[in-house]
Amino acid sequence: MTVNNLDREAVSHGKITEKPLRERPSFPTWALKLTMAITGLIFAGFVVFHMVGNLKIFLPHYEDGTHPIDHYAHWLQQDVLYPLVPHGWFVWIFRAVLLAAIILHVYGAFALTKRSQQSRGKFRRTDLVGGFNSFTTKTMLVTGIVLLAFIIFHILDLTVGVAPAASDVFVHGEVYANMVASFSRWPVTIFYVIAMLVLFLHLSHGIWLATSDLGITGKRWRAVLLFLSYLVPAVVLIGNISIPLAIATGLVG
Ligand code: HEM
Repeated sequence: MTVNNLDREAVSHGKITEKPLRERPSFPTWALKLTMAITGLIFAGFVVFHMVGNLKIFLPHYEDGTHPIDHYAHWLQQDVLYPLVPHGWFVWIFRAVLLAAIILHVYGAFALTKRSQQSRGKFRRTDLVGGFNSFTTKTMLVTGIVLLAFIIFHILDLTVGVAPAASDVFVHGEVYANMVASFSRWPVTIFYVIAMLVLFLHLSHGIWLATSDLGITGKRWRAVLLFLSYLVPAVVLIGNISIPLAIATGLVG
């Protein structure tokens, strides 16, 4: 939306204006959108792999009493890409990539929102598509902010181990025990379930937006990606909420 002509009459009569629509931004809008699409897809990929890894909570304990998810976490923290990179390096490279992705994604979200508001001026956006699509479009900023709050809570809860986000019995590296202790608290489980529903909305619309921002215009590809933009978030939603719910209800732990 680039209509910035204050002369509404002129616009409605289709008159041509020589006024620039707005000041030229230092970082072009197309590049911002592309950045948002790429960083968003990095996160989408991450949540899928993260969910698959977390589902190991449902595996039985080994005979020596240890749990597969603890071995998996140890491998992630220490051994991925070894000996290509020294022990423990991968996780820090990965954290740096995720941090850069989230900073760029959040910056892009606020910058684009500001630009579209400037372009639109006093005219409000109307329900162009209608229904669920319009709802998710309008709520992307809000769902994004909720997810940011969730990520901060989640890292304090299960990675850093800072109470009251984390349980009192948090121990570094004891992922199975930490998850059981954390999700045995119903308010935390409910918060996770709500956050995962919000993630569904954000991810679903985000994948669809990325499809357009990456310039995918072919009819068949768009149909496939529209399907995936519901399927992937639905799988992530079901996989993720099953974990806290299974623990809170006593099925696991
Ligand atoms: C119910 C769903 C989820 C569960 C059960 C879960 C579980 C965990 C656990 C156990 C850890 C600590 C791993 C370790 O110490 O090795 C962790 C870390 C993390 N999780 Fe999740 N997670 C969930 C959803 C999410 C979602 C939706 C996101 C992103 C939007 C996310 C982002 C992260 C991040 C960024 C870390 C820190 C990784 C690191 O730097 O070590 N998680 N999660």
